[in-house]
Amino acid sequence: MSIETLSWVGGVSDGFLRLIDQTLLPIELRTIDCRNTESVWEAIKQLRVRGAPAIGIAAAYGMIIGIQNVTVNSLEKRFYDVAQYLASSRPTAVNLFWAIDRMKRCYESVKIKLHNGGAEEHTMILNELFLEARKIHEEDRAICRAIGNYGQSIIMNGDTFITHCNAGGLATADYGTALAVFFTAAELGKKIMVYADETRPLLQGARLTAWELMQKGINVTLICDSMAAMIMRQGKVNGVIVGADRIAANGDTANKIGTYGLAVSAFVHNIPFYVAAPISTFDLALADGVDIPIEERNADEICCGFGVRTAPEGVNVYNPAFDVTPAKFISAIITERGIINPVNKENIENLAAD
Ligand code: MRU
Repeated sequence: MSIETLSWVGGVSDGFLRLIDQTLLPIELRTIDCRNTESVWEAIKQLRVRGAPAIGIAAAYGMIIGIQNVTVNSLEKRFYDVAQYLASSRPTAVNLFWAIDRMKRCYESVKIKLHNGGAEEHTMILNELFLEARKIHEEDRAICRAIGNYGQSIIMNGDTFITHCNAGGLATADYGTALAVFFTAAELGKKIMVYADETRPLLQGARLTAWELMQKGINVTLICDSMAAMIMRQGKVNGVIVGADRIAANGDTANKIGTYGLAVSAFVHNIPFYVAAPISTFDLALADGVDIPIEERNADEICCGFGVRTAPEGVNVYNPAFDVTPAKFISAIITERGIINPVNKENIENLAAD
């Protein structure tokens, strides 16, 4: 991809966040510039930037933008207000809160070192926070590569896999999580085929995953979500790999709506089901998936997707954006630190705890 999913443009005190507007893909590859916190919030909310790691990175940069033009006296209040505001954009992907917490910890550690309270202090805080946001961004690139390297070992030459939603370069700093596994396997010369679920209702699979895989020359076939069980029964699938938005301490995993059904189908057909995710996606404070907050989105996404009405005006709609797959249906979790197999509390704690 010649354009980066996210990038910082300009200096620390006057720069801004540039994002690929993913709502326009695959028709148009265009960027938008976020120069205030509201536009970062809106971009996350409207899925212009989406995918768990990418929204964490966007929020980290958003916290810089939010304190660029404040006086040193109002900086602290503004910083925490911005953190709270950005945290309200989407509830499910824990990477958002993880990145905001990291920025808060950075702020607190800089504050301890500073006492003069002048303009100089503002610059130093901004610089340190910017370095932290950059670090979150750069680390994610390396994490994706490591996930790809570990994950490729589960793919044999000639395999066919299904993926759901988009866990590619568009959902991360670069390269992806689930898609990184395919990209790395292909780079190593393994011949693979990928079925991309279209991923109702917002079509991240059709619009983004199919596009990304085609860009990288990977053999991809688009299917409707409802076709996955049948092609599994027909013996056309060797495995499933998806990304994740939040993984509880026992391995229960929240990901895009439809993932749970896909995992159940894979289980019934004795097909391995893998989750690929960075350690920042684990929420060890949650014992299991029951308490993972599930975002509910606007009814129009189902009734009037992409501007075309496909259901009667006024019909009742339920639109959860994510579901939780119980750990018992997950064969292994691929992380940047290695592969968790079998998926259980002990193995997760050993690998994911700080
Ligand atoms: O609503 P979205 O498009 O942000 O949902 C994204 C997903 O469900 C991804 O699978 C997940 O965030 C992992 S991205 C590496």
